Amino acid sequence: MTPFRVTLVNVRTDIPGPPGGPVRGVLPAFRRDVLGFTLDSFRRYGDVVAYRFGPPGRLALVAVGAYHPDDVHRILTGTGHGFNRQTVGFEVMTEAFGEGLLTTEAETWRRQRRTLQPLFTPRHVGRYAELMADEAERVLAGPAVADGAVVDLHRLMQRYTLRVVGRALFGEDIDEFVDDLYWLVPRIAGQIRSRVMQAARLPLGWPTPSNRRFRRLRATQYALVDQILARRARHPSDDQDDLISRLRAARDPQTGRPLSEREVRDQTLIFLMAGHETTAGALTFTVDLLGRHPEVQDKVAVEEDLVRAALLEGMRLYPPAYVTERRTTTDVTLRQYVVPRGTMVFASPWVTHRHPVFWPDPDRFDPARFLGDQPRPRYAYFPFGGGPRSCIGEHFAMLEATLLLKALLGRYRIEAVDPPPRLRAFVTLRPAGAVRARLTRR
Ligand code: HEM
Repeated sequence: MTPFRVTLVNVRTDIPGPPGGPVRGVLPAFRRDVLGFTLDSFRRYGDVVAYRFGPPGRLALVAVGAYHPDDVHRILTGTGHGFNRQTVGFEVMTEAFGEGLLTTEAETWRRQRRTLQPLFTPRHVGRYAELMADEAERVLAGPAVADGAVVDLHRLMQRYTLRVVGRALFGEDIDEFVDDLYWLVPRIAGQIRSRVMQAARLPLGWPTPSNRRFRRLRATQYALVDQILARRARHPSDDQDDLISRLRAARDPQTGRPLSEREVRDQTLIFLMAGHETTAGALTFTVDLLGRHPEVQDKVAVEEDLVRAALLEGMRLYPPAYVTERRTTTDVTLRQYVVPRGTMVFASPWVTHRHPVFWPDPDRFDPARFLGDQPRPRYAYFPFGGGPRSCIGEHFAMLEATLLLKALLGRYRIEAVDPPPRLRAFVTLRPAGAVRARLTRR
């Protein structure tokens, strides 16, 4: 229940928000620094903020940011009832990644989620613990990691999470693709972002330079997936219960038909992308924060409960999935406003995780916030989203990240050597360059 009298509003005129320029509205500010700009507008205008993209007037394109946990709750649990994912962001993601679990909707999505969910239950994911611990050892035994060495945390974590996803989900050692993916992921994310931010989006088939770049990168990533699938076909895995086996075995309950080759490819691609980049980011940012807070680090190194708490706190300050969008399919109440159907709305962990009502001293890194009693609304914290479209890989990610962090801190003291990382917020939040840290044997 909201304590306000609510009325149907015109989102273009009735919800406060930054004025923006006369022609493109807030588009340039979003392009320049979406993180700083959204946080600043929340501090200035409050829990519900309207952002105008394009010139003012009846046809202005407006998106509404909803930052209060109760509204985040409504948006995320309402997907399929009051909200859908028909937004520019998801449209462009579909153009880039095809129709996998992250991008489909309605019955297609339900069928896909039913097929894949059993692989991601805590119990099933627990079976990967040994493999993950093994990979953690392997990364720490790599040539770059040694007493006194300065390492790039992001590179290290990317290698680890890719190897884990490769072995656990695809039954494959995908080490040889790690460098290609390291090159590809930020580029494809950059293309997605510039397409989302284009004032006028031309159909992808048109031969403009940016469309050509987009299509070229898309072809490169599919070529990579095809190599993974081809190798897998030559060397069938012993574990018949990994993602690819499940995709191949899945049958439509109505028609009995298997998935098409295209569906298998798209799903493999989505899991390859969604399954490594986010966890690598969470680990990188958390370890970097620990490297700046030696007193916290020493406690985390010896107290088991604090390892998980440190990761949760790392993702509070640096949520890898920093924003998600929906479109309203009915009139929807957000705080004191009734927002009409058809409106683009977004929830931002980046902003809500710094909401001072729920997070006292929000900029302080303090893993103890996640210990014991936590008198906060459920959606003051949502790095993995929520509701029906919550992250299917949450248990997987938490287990793999905890195991790596424990192994790393058990052996090394970490010391950040540069100023805090610059950020790049494209599809996910990631560091803009290397995140260097010095390791010293404990
Ligand atoms: C720290 C790591 C991770 C974070 C922060 C994260 C975050 C998220 C979030 C916020 C969503 C929901 C997006 C929305 O509502 O629009 C999501 C969805 C998803 N995630 Fe993750 N994720 C992580 C790791 C993983 C892993 C390890 C996998 C796979 C192994 C994965 C696969 C997916 C998939 C397939 C979806 C779409 C689910 C659906 O719509 O049914 N994620 N993730």
